[in-house]
Amino acid sequence: LDNGLMRTPPMGWMSWERFHCNIDCENDPKNCISENLFRGMADRLAEDGWKEMGYDHVMIDDCWSSMLRDKDGRLQPDPQRFPGGIAKLARYLHNRGLKLGIYGDLGTHTCGGYPGTTLDKIETDAQMFASWGVDFLKLDGCYSNEEEQQKGYPLMSKALNATGRPIGYSCSWPAYRGGLLPSVNYTLLGEICNLWRNYDDIQDSWDSVQEITDWFFDNQEILQPGRWNDPDMPVYMDQSRSQMALWAIMAAPLIMSNNLRTLNHGLYTKFTVYSPFLCLYVTLFFLQKRSHIEVYWRPLSQSASALVFLSRRQDMPYHYHTSLAKLNYTAGSYKAYDVFTGKTLSGLSATTEFTVSIDPSGVVMWYVYPRMHYEHPQDDVYKVW
Ligand code: DGJ
Repeated sequence: LDNGLMRTPPMGWMSWERFHCNIDCENDPKNCISENLFRGMADRLAEDGWKEMGYDHVMIDDCWSSMLRDKDGRLQPDPQRFPGGIAKLARYLHNRGLKLGIYGDLGTHTCGGYPGTTLDKIETDAQMFASWGVDFLKLDGCYSNEEEQQKGYPLMSKALNATGRPIGYSCSWPAYRGGLLPSVNYTLLGEICNLWRNYDDIQDSWDSVQEITDWFFDNQEILQPGRWNDPDMPVYMDQSRSQMALWAIMAAPLIMSNNLRTLNHGLYTKFTVYSPFLCLYVTLFFLQKRSHIEVYWRPLSQSASALVFLSRRQDMPYHYHTSLAKLNYTAGSYKAYDVFTGKTLSGLSATTEFTVSIDPSGVVMWYVYPRMHYEHPQDDVYKVW
């Protein structure tokens, strides 16, 4: 969508994966969907260094609204949980240099059972969001049929544009149509949405991460390159490194949904420096699969590239022997910068045999560049950033 927004994959925090539809503020005030939760997470983004890394959106997911529209047919937040209203929350975020995302659903109801946006309500809701100072809309697709989605997603794009307020637009449309051709028109999506969800919701498990990754790599030819296919939120567990490496090589949006109050963010600090760089280029290949090790490759600018070695093994660290030539690199002299350890391997010719040690469910991620081009890859990354 050519609205000048989200030229790189959007980053931020969203409530769904971690906090779902917890509306029990009486018994669980710290974790229920309420203005306090979003203010608290905004404080974490602004004060703990996330914002500087690019995590600048706080996104409300489902279950924020009242069960009924107001007397003029407009959406309204739940008065107990959002006593200050959405406009005030938006101001709170804007004052901290952050942006506010909100959730809507094209259909009679949201997936959580709150009022949805039927076709006749699209303009009203777009106007309402804009008047609140909202910067991003995730439009889910529960309780609508194919025909309504066909009309509704483009209509909302127009309606948002007509408000005159720049509002990033995430469409869950493909996820409701199976994500594949011919049911999904990725060319059209690229014209009307900034990003889109293609596949099922992520769960807090490594199985779920792998299932999503498999789907994206198996279907990569049909996914619109250079737009933001959204494999859903990075979740945080022992295999976080692996997920971050895979999400970066997919140029995925990095919209977290974790408890920022308790998160150790060393991994993200390191990683986020790299992800905007990785995302600028579009092609992605799955190179090798043997001994339950998979190798992914993404070409970058000026003959640089990213390599991810992923272990699908459960047993023990595996020593993977290969060479750049075996990974389709052309003759030449290269350096490889290990994104996680910060070490550089120099003097690699295409035919040099090397071994990487990959932990079970772990990754090794390399930024590979021709020796002549960059003596200091980090400097270049910072420039792009
Ligand atoms: C389904 C979506 O895919 C999720 O990300 C989340 O928005 C829920 N609906 C909310 O009900």
